[in-house]
Amino acid sequence: MWFSLVPLVGLLSLIVLLAGFHYLSNGRKYWLQRKVLYEEPCPIFGNFGAALTSRRSYAKMLKYLYEKYKNEKYVGIFQARRPTLMVLDMDIAKTIFSTDFACFSDLRISSTDTKREPLLRNVINMRGTEWKAMRQIISPTFSSAKMKGMFPLISECAHNLRNVLLNSLGEVEVPEVMCRYTTDVVGSCAFGVDPGSLKNPESPFFIMTKKMYRVDRATILKRYCRTFSPRLFKLLNLRSYPPDVEVFFTSAISQVLNERRSGVQRNDYLQLMLNVQETEKEFEMTDALITSNSFTFMLAGLETSSTTLSFCLYQLAKDKEVQDRVREEIKECMETHGGLNFEAVTAMKLTAQAVTETLRMHPPAPMVTRLCTSPCVLTGTDLKFELRNSVLIPLQCMQRDARYFPNPEKFDPERFNDPKTPAIFAFGSGPRSCPGGRFAYLAVVAGLAAMLSRMEVAPSARTTPRIEYDPRSFILKNKGGIYLEFNAL
Ligand code: HEM
Repeated sequence: MWFSLVPLVGLLSLIVLLAGFHYLSNGRKYWLQRKVLYEEPCPIFGNFGAALTSRRSYAKMLKYLYEKYKNEKYVGIFQARRPTLMVLDMDIAKTIFSTDFACFSDLRISSTDTKREPLLRNVINMRGTEWKAMRQIISPTFSSAKMKGMFPLISECAHNLRNVLLNSLGEVEVPEVMCRYTTDVVGSCAFGVDPGSLKNPESPFFIMTKKMYRVDRATILKRYCRTFSPRLFKLLNLRSYPPDVEVFFTSAISQVLNERRSGVQRNDYLQLMLNVQETEKEFEMTDALITSNSFTFMLAGLETSSTTLSFCLYQLAKDKEVQDRVREEIKECMETHGGLNFEAVTAMKLTAQAVTETLRMHPPAPMVTRLCTSPCVLTGTDLKFELRNSVLIPLQCMQRDARYFPNPEKFDPERFNDPKTPAIFAFGSGPRSCPGGRFAYLAVVAGLAAMLSRMEVAPSARTTPRIEYDPRSFILKNKGGIYLEFNAL
């Protein structure tokens, strides 16, 4: 009997020990000593315990803090034991993103050990001069000319999406189908393979994609550990993605590299890096770097675009009047430009505004972060930053703040016709902002055009009356899923 009490006593002792350490050590006094208003943290978890234990979404916890300190310019918080400055003022956020970029040029995820996980040695995790060089290499992929060249690949996937839905009219689990669409778009535009996810939901590529994005408690704990305790992450020999996911994508990309070397040329992201490998002498573009940076498309572009499409369809299903006007515009543009082509999609102004409004309300990432890369005093404040101090910008809270976006709970795409409406932060801002924004717009608008030109979307019996974010996912998702009714017109 006493034997079964051992683990319990052990756990209680550990909690008492950690709590004692928390209250006696100076860590929690960090903001107090700097005379910055702060939110009292809990031992071990800081201010985000409920998110870590999946009781509340990260978005909800950020909202709580934002509402509580809304009239301040910033507040000190703790992510686990790490002190972080949460910025509450849009102008200060812009200073960090742009004016003071030289002092805040890293993202916090840059703490990933890419020697252990080479697939993650990509532009997102790079720092300093390596980041700058890689960013210059990938940026031309997203130029207007390259986008136009890639558009036929996107358009083919959009037609497949429409056909899949026309063949399964009625209630649809939207995020699942949208993820199959963006998997096919990313597979063909990033490295020229056809993942075949729309035609076959059991395709190996899609199975691996789903595995990569799986959210369960173990994954949440693992990611939290990687961000806030990288040494423990390494000590426990944890990895960000399951080994079979790493093996699958590494060998898929390596196969494409071999094909390209035998003479096949394409207009995609991987080809651009391959050209750099052949021509650039100053930057050593190894095969491993081409592989990891092609994988970035999967990491950064696939789920963000598919959740945007899903939320946009949800909003349009709930607002038939806006949906009808969007459809009218889509049909008009397709007629004027002779089908679903680059010119037609880039002319769809209201549809693009519906996407921007969706990103305002439900940005896939509710916040962005920066690490201090050079000691400084933040412009316009007397706040001193030391190397590797951490900043958090709760972009969704700002985008739902009535001071910046009047009537913020209303889905109103036309608010962007007003020149006074601020730009959204859903893609971040400044030199470290998302390079894939234009690509994402093309993929999302093309998908919407293909669907809405032939179908109407409406709430179904399982559509939740409002969006409540899933506490198990950092990327914003609806807790009850998104189910909608698709009807042919
Ligand atoms: C709706 C879709 C998307 C959203 C909302 C989104 C959002 C974001 C955000 C918030 C960041 C961080 C920016 C910052 O900290 O200032 C980011 C970074 C990034 N995104 Fe996207 N993204 C989307 C699609 C894409 C696509 C399609 C790609 C294609 C490759 C992509 C590639 C990247 C990369 C490479 C970075 C890191 C940039 C760097 O560190 O220099 N994203 N994205």
